[in-house]
Amino acid sequence: MTVTWELRDRIAVIIIANPPVNALGKAVRERLATLVHDLDADTSIDAVVLAGAGKLFVGGADITEFDGPVEAPLPELIAAIEGSAKPWVAAIHGVALGGGLELALGCRFRVAAPGATLGLPEVNLGLIPGAGGTQRLPRLIGTETAVAVAVEKLTLDTFRAMKVGLVDRVIDGPLVDGAVSFAKEALARPLPPPASARNAAAVDWDAADARIRKAAKGLSAPPAALAALRHGIEHGFAAGIALERETFLRLRASEESAALRHLFFAERAAPRPADLRQVSPKPIAKVGVVGGGTMGSGIAAALRGAGLAVTLSERDEDALARGMATLSGIFDAAVKRGLVSVAETTERFAGVDGKVGLESLRDCDLVIEAVFEDLAVKQDVFAELGRICRPDAILATNTSYIDPREIARSLQNPGRFLGLHFFSPAQVMKLLEIIPTPDTTPETLATAFDLARRLGKVPVRSGICDGFIGNRILRRYRGEAEILVRQGLSVAAIDSAMRAFGFAMGPFEVQDLSGLDISFMQREAARARGEEVAIQPGDLLVRAGRKGQKTGGGWYDYVAGDRTPRPSDTAAKIIAPLVQGQGDLAADKIAERLVGAMAAEGEAILAEGIAASPADIDLVEVHGYGFPRSKGGPMFLTARKASST
Ligand code: 3HC
Ligand code: NAI
Repeated sequence: MTVTWELRDRIAVIIIANPPVNALGKAVRERLATLVHDLDADTSIDAVVLAGAGKLFVGGADITEFDGPVEAPLPELIAAIEGSAKPWVAAIHGVALGGGLELALGCRFRVAAPGATLGLPEVNLGLIPGAGGTQRLPRLIGTETAVAVAVEKLTLDTFRAMKVGLVDRVIDGPLVDGAVSFAKEALARPLPPPASARNAAAVDWDAADARIRKAAKGLSAPPAALAALRHGIEHGFAAGIALERETFLRLRASEESAALRHLFFAERAAPRPADLRQVSPKPIAKVGVVGGGTMGSGIAAALRGAGLAVTLSERDEDALARGMATLSGIFDAAVKRGLVSVAETTERFAGVDGKVGLESLRDCDLVIEAVFEDLAVKQDVFAELGRICRPDAILATNTSYIDPREIARSLQNPGRFLGLHFFSPAQVMKLLEIIPTPDTTPETLATAFDLARRLGKVPVRSGICDGFIGNRILRRYRGEAEILVRQGLSVAAIDSAMRAFGFAMGPFEVQDLSGLDISFMQREAARARGEEVAIQPGDLLVRAGRKGQKTGGGWYDYVAGDRTPRPSDTAAKIIAPLVQGQGDLAADKIAERLVGAMAAEGEAILAEGIAASPADIDLVEVHGYGFPRSKGGPMFLTARKASST
């Protein structure tokens, strides 16, 4: 870390250099505090320009410090800058986020290079801005926009920031030179009041609170950020700052923020595994997708979203027409949800070349197979792809359970083959399990990670085992839930406990939605191979024709056209022979038990070397299976519980 300064024509220019993001760590804060004092006393200086070295201004407070005690508090530094006898000018480029923007708000002026991003993303970390952001921002740009920025994660680019009054001048050309000129001009005029001395108007607080609570889905930080903002406007700047700080420190110590910080670092580490840092990915421009069913169409949509050319291959004209219709439906839905424009979807759809057979995939850089989950069918596809595709084209399977080594058994150049396990719906779900075989080359693997980055996915490398990381844990989770049913707990009680924990749906509701028959058929196949697979409640339900919502009933009953699960006496009677006891367990204990089972499976996965780290397992659960983000993942949660007892 270095914070240096130089004198330029009576203007002090301070440069913060604390790679990678110029975070405001303790050493930076202490040095800046000393400079405020020294520069104030220096009569050869009229004003101060504050800038960041490298590609950005300041990325925020140093998040790595949040597990420790508070030292050299940032709010005090910012108050000192604001109270300085000389005006400070923040010269912003790249990003000014969180504490970085708060630092700039303490300056009397802000100038910015085009293309900068300004925002207060603290709520993503389970925090609220803790150094005056909720108080100074509304006083500078108006309460409504400030709520959107400080509570609802709106970021402003340079021009929008200029429009709302956050930025005083856009500097084209060298930023620091422009900031120095700006400072000199500003000194010739009366100074505007500092942000803290200005006023801001009230908004409809109740409406804002209702909207924010709805979007926050139980997270504490967004309503707390709004409350701090409101308090400052209703009771004055000092009272607002006090509540903001108290709330920030409380949330900083919360489990929710610890969990979200854990995921922040896990998500940043995931795309860059240490062993691939020196390996260059291959360029990928054209991708073939084999199979236009549920997964293939979603994968094609995801690829188009990243601007890749796609050829979608199906086995016959009818299946191709269905696949293209599914794809078109995905694009229509994106337009309806306001995610993309009609023009953009038209362009995306036009970039998908639908073809029968595999011949048209000959010039693809990458082919992703998503045909039926059947080893023989997949082997045939890869035998043909091996013949048709360029020898350097990367070939990938989206299999859920089949051993990729078996799928690629007859493939020439197996170094170019691996598993790319997308999750349904593939155009939405962020997780991508990347499954190398022992033959996969580092270059192929690096290309898969690069593809994930381009698709905006969270990549997690998995070793080979039944179900890889995610589906293996899912099986254990469901198995544990069924054990509870056998002990006499109702499926409704279990589902409700997991919803209260934070999942959108409980394990039995999910099974009813996706169908009980797939796992039933897997168990039946294992039994047919002579394996000992005990009869489970799900087997009895499927044998009685209850495969889930699609048959009008599974674990629950459904009435036509309504997806609401209704507790089912019929299902209870069918599974009764396997139930012993009158189970009674509080909701939090049910969740503890099921999450504990997930973590235990996670430990086994780690011991076998299938996952590289507990954080990777947490990413799989959060991004592939709806594990509540605010809990950090089963491994994080279980480790925290263990360390606190
Ligand atoms: N503190 C500590 N480390 C940080 C950090 C921060 N605020 N922001 C990023 N990093 C680290 C990352 O973990 C990563 O470390 P690694 O190389 O060891 O994996 C490295 O910096 C680079 O990060 P990215 O890969 O994300 O780099 P990008 O260039 O893609 O993005 C960024 C840069 C836009 C600044 C992005 O890192 C980001 O969004 N950071 C977080 C911004 C944020 O949330 N700021 C608010 C912090 S809380 C706060 O300020 C409280 C205040 O109100 C008191
Ligand atoms: P699906 O049955 O919806 O689609 C499979 C498609 O492949 C069909 O459209 C079929 O016509 C086509 N197909 C079959 N043989 C073909 C061939 N030789 N050439 C071209 N097309 C052919 O199946 P789904 O659900 O899309 O699954 C595909 C794969 O993805 C499976 O391996 C599955 O295990 C895996 N998967 C499925 C997930 C899901 O939630 N459905 C999640 C993750 C992976």
